[in-house]
Amino acid sequence: MTQHDPRTVFLRDYTPPAYLVEEVRLTFRLAPHATRVLSEIQFRPNPDAADRDFFLHGEQLKLISAHVDGAPVTPELVEGGLRLDAPDAAFTFEAEVEIDPENNTALEGLYRSNGMYCTQCEAEGFRKITFYPDRPDVMAPFHVRIESDLPVLLSNGNEVARGEGFAEWYDPWPKPSYLFALVAGDLVAHADSFTTQSGREVALNVWVREADIDKCAFAMEALKKSMKWDEEVYGREYDLDLFNIVAVDDFNMGAMENKGLNIFNSSAVLASPETATDADFERIEAIIAHEYFHNWTGNRVTCRDWFQLCLKEGLTVFRDQQFTGDMRSHPVKRIDDAMLLRSAQFREDNGPLAHPVRPESFVEINNFYTVTVYEKGAEIVGMLKRLVGDEGYRKALDLYFERHDGQAVTIEDWLKAFEDATGRDLSQFARWYHQAGTPRVHVAEDYADGTYTLTLRQETPPTPGQDDKAPVVIPVAVGLLNPNGDEVVATRVLELSEAEQSFAFEGLSTRPVASILRGFSAPVILRHEQSHETRAFLLAHDTDPFNKWEAGRDLARTGLLAMILDGAGPDAGYVDALGQAVSDEALDPAFRARLLALPGEDELAQAIFETGTAPDPTAIHAAREALRRAIAERLGDTLSRLYETHQVTGPYSPEAKDAGRRALTNAALSLLTLTQGGDRARAQYRAADNMTQQIAALGALLVIGEGEAELKAFEEQWHHERLVMNKWFGLQVAAARPEETAATAEALSRHPAFDWKNPNRFRAVFGALAGNAAGFHDPSGAGYRLLADWLLKLDPLNPQTTARMTQAFSTWKRYDEDRKRLIRAELERIAGAQGLSRDTSEMVGRMLA
Ligand code: ARG
Ligand code: ZN
Repeated sequence: MTQHDPRTVFLRDYTPPAYLVEEVRLTFRLAPHATRVLSEIQFRPNPDAADRDFFLHGEQLKLISAHVDGAPVTPELVEGGLRLDAPDAAFTFEAEVEIDPENNTALEGLYRSNGMYCTQCEAEGFRKITFYPDRPDVMAPFHVRIESDLPVLLSNGNEVARGEGFAEWYDPWPKPSYLFALVAGDLVAHADSFTTQSGREVALNVWVREADIDKCAFAMEALKKSMKWDEEVYGREYDLDLFNIVAVDDFNMGAMENKGLNIFNSSAVLASPETATDADFERIEAIIAHEYFHNWTGNRVTCRDWFQLCLKEGLTVFRDQQFTGDMRSHPVKRIDDAMLLRSAQFREDNGPLAHPVRPESFVEINNFYTVTVYEKGAEIVGMLKRLVGDEGYRKALDLYFERHDGQAVTIEDWLKAFEDATGRDLSQFARWYHQAGTPRVHVAEDYADGTYTLTLRQETPPTPGQDDKAPVVIPVAVGLLNPNGDEVVATRVLELSEAEQSFAFEGLSTRPVASILRGFSAPVILRHEQSHETRAFLLAHDTDPFNKWEAGRDLARTGLLAMILDGAGPDAGYVDALGQAVSDEALDPAFRARLLALPGEDELAQAIFETGTAPDPTAIHAAREALRRAIAERLGDTLSRLYETHQVTGPYSPEAKDAGRRALTNAALSLLTLTQGGDRARAQYRAADNMTQQIAALGALLVIGEGEAELKAFEEQWHHERLVMNKWFGLQVAAARPEETAATAEALSRHPAFDWKNPNRFRAVFGALAGNAAGFHDPSGAGYRLLADWLLKLDPLNPQTTARMTQAFSTWKRYDEDRKRLIRAELERIAGAQGLSRDTSEMVGRMLA
């Protein structure tokens, strides 16, 4: 367990830094294998520190020279950095180091991607650039000079000088080292500008390689929308004259909010109708917004230490969710967020990797950029908002910004701002931050003499290191419907704070139908025994769009479990109710597309596991396919009508309205293809003038074992576009039959275009392998072996991406003895590898514990 690893860092051991930094000057002499970094750092003793131990982080640095106040010194080089007898007064530390960006395959620190130089410093990458107190509670203004012959030289803040072979930058806003960034390359800009609410003109650029200049317009529009939205909704204005975004092909995650110089995985910026799908466009819009919003929630107010990561990430995800809702559709966004939470965060929370939203210890912080920190962190912000109301929320946020601007703070500071702004005591609510696990809320109902009584009981199962759980504060949004479908009690938020609590609704003339946890008001699992009829009623009548969708989802899940566990046939009643709902032209097509999506195979596996049975991924897949086929058969006419009548005509637009129609027609297409063959999909493929239509048609064909010709044509058409080729690689693995999945992935790994050192390409194939549940868990164990082989190959080069992808194995304890034995063997093989990275060894260690 992590607790026994000598490298474990604990929240409780936090101490303030011994020295603070007044100002930093950095000079970079760029060279692929021998970049020189000269630093000049002004330190002063921290009055709040307990000692004067002068330690600077530093890893993989060749120290050339060091000076204190101009006099040469020989620091003691220790594990992870250097030590020095430092004055008990202000002083200047200078160092010259040499680093090797070209051989930096971990993509952390300063590295090269396609000939350009770029950086990724969060969380602890700056220490691979120079010796520095690389911790977020040390904030300073940065001067940066870059010397290179490359045409574009960028860093944080504003450009202050430029000449032949150099550029100088100054960022006046004190920042922690994790927000430092540098880019140098042969790049071109898609330029624009934005005028802030107070009239400041900000120059905006999206920097890309020349070939990608036609794919920047959408990201730029998204940036401008984000800037405006943050002014209107949060009163937050941008604070520099310049905002740069750079697209990088080799990147471990989505993007990074470096002050004034956001660096993006190219997949999170570049889009054109021909190369990107509607889902890509939406994701790009959300990530652009997310990184931009960090300027206030993360940069101006940052984290004291990495245990507080959710302080910036949970809040910023919540903000980007609000933004997407405002730009598109709130109900659909809520459904999508709930699906993600259930499929990824509940999975994490209910397995060996469960951890609190604010963890108490870690070995490698990169392993804690998780769905729990991000998505559950966002859910907590949403619950807070629901509990204090919209006005209270705005007051609390204003106070938080006003009080903590320029500071590095904690979750306690965040909650205190809410307490002070609203007068509410949040001591029990704070448990959401330190208690791991998904609460179960059990529902009991009673009706007598006009009074409906709802009894809610909460319970959270044990998680690693936390056996006993206390009750949390759960906002449960409830509405009541009359049997005729009218709403008799509008949505009301019940606060469940005890282990068990009853809530009475009086003065009712008939027994109502309850709609509970409306809008998915808390990240919990609701245990509510409801009849088939009640669910069908809610699917038809609930006025809350989330719960309307949820009722259909419950019916689908129940029906699928009966098919898998009891050998039942497809539930015709469900299929008919679904047919009614998707035919309702009053409903948004995007929403109806969500109704047609069945619970995922992994989610079903977890549900079966919770009934006390080991899930069989092969049987789950077969049942889900059988239900899809039954839907397609029984609703054939409805689906073909939807397909015909909702086609988008006219030029492609990524706007929500058209995207929703395409989502609906493509959901119909994938079902219809199962029972009516590939002609419709082939026709769509031929006619497609955008990637959404093209890839949906190809996917539908591959699932029925056709599409060979289209697959070839696709490769010919797109071989020069890496982002599109990632789709080509991934789709084949995702659509493969269970027994062929591993072989398909293996064959693709031999394809000449399989560049395994590029994280996007690696994930395209092996992420898809892990995501194809029946294929990955095929009883042969071939999927497990193949993934483990490749993770072992990648680990020495890129520990961060490797460690993240080990999560494919995290559910192993759910399965039967044979599968468990096979997976355990692979986990042990990984754990036993010579020189395994700290990242990966922490992950497999936690899974084996
Ligand atoms: N702060 C970035 C974002 O969410 C992500 C950085 C991820 N860093 C990491 N080491 N995993 O916007
Ligand atoms: Zn973030």
